[in-house]
Amino acid sequence: MPKKEEIKFKVYTMENNTNMIQLITLPKIEDRRGNLSVIENDTIPFEIKRIYYVYDIPSGVERGGHSHKNLKEFLVALSGSFDVVLNDGNQIVNVTLNKPNVGLLINPGIWRELKNFSSGAVCLVVASDVYIEEDYIRDLDEFLDS
Ligand code: TYD
Repeated sequence: MPKKEEIKFKVYTMENNTNMIQLITLPKIEDRRGNLSVIENDTIPFEIKRIYYVYDIPSGVERGGHSHKNLKEFLVALSGSFDVVLNDGNQIVNVTLNKPNVGLLINPGIWRELKNFSSGAVCLVVASDVYIEEDYIRDLDEFLDS
């Protein structure tokens, strides 16, 4: 188990053997009129209770910066691209999302930061529960101590 300061300042690595990166490829119905992808309850491993999306994101900003105690989330770059930096307290991995038919599952207990949003990026989030502020851990030290 690395020390808190080591994990806070560790260089981001992309490790294929991590179980933090759980990408799910969505069905893609290709058509001359445009492609269509669908997310249903049996596409992702939780019951969908809420959907929200982040858009009109100014260049250079970072979002996220929290973990959840119980919430599961599934993130899709509906348009453009962005990086999701995941930290389980032991290792940090960077995942680039840039396909509207590939989403990232984030389980509870994972600190996440979203950054490097491209122009026009739209981040769709499918969540396993309604919004509960008490489910958030927004302090990195508190997360690393938990
Ligand atoms: P927050 O989760 O902090 O956004 P991010 O992690 O992407 O930076 O949410 C930003 C604000 O929006 C905060 O005031 C809470 C509010 N909010 C809701 O009211 N309902 C929701 O479903 C979400 C996700 C956020």
